Amino acid sequence: MNETTKAIVKSTAPLLKDKGEQITTVMYENLFSKYPQAKELFKDATPDQYVKLANMVYAYAANINQLENLQKSIEKVAQIHVNVKILPEHYPWVGESLLIAIKEVLGEEATDEVMDAWAEAYGFLSQVFIDKEQAIYTEQNE
Ligand code: HEM
Repeated sequence: MNETTKAIVKSTAPLLKDKGEQITTVMYENLFSKYPQAKELFKDATPDQYVKLANMVYAYAANINQLENLQKSIEKVAQIHVNVKILPEHYPWVGESLLIAIKEVLGEEATDEVMDAWAEAYGFLSQVFIDKEQAIYTEQNE
């Protein structure tokens, strides 16, 4: 991610704090209507799952220049993802659903620049998770 992308994502942090739960609620609606096969993965999820996801998306935006602050929560979430068998091919489902939700909820504030920056930032965070989860899966099989 370049500095411009990070600056744009960071500038959306207050909006995400305000509307994060709305965004993730719409995200799940998008996810389950477009990818009904995702429902199975969430079958044991707690009802406040969308609040946790919203908090993390906000924390990511706010800490985009100090991702080390998120290290602990990323490790924890990666372990939970492995427990429910999340795989790399699931990430684009959430990415697409999340970006559409951001656009819908932020409306005019979701300019092309904001959308491009979030697409890149989501890709970056997904890769961090995918790599961590891969490492845990490999460890489990040793
Ligand atoms: C960058 C993308 C993602 C972020 C930021 C994220 C974030 C989170 C967070 C914060 C939790 C809650 C952990 C806790 O209980 O403390 C979680 C759990 C979970 N995530 Fe993700 N996640 C991402 C991608 C995905 C993807 C791609 C899937 C599958 C389509 C997925 C499915 C789940 C499931 C099934 C749980 C467990 C829910 C439960 O049993 O309570 N996540 N994730």
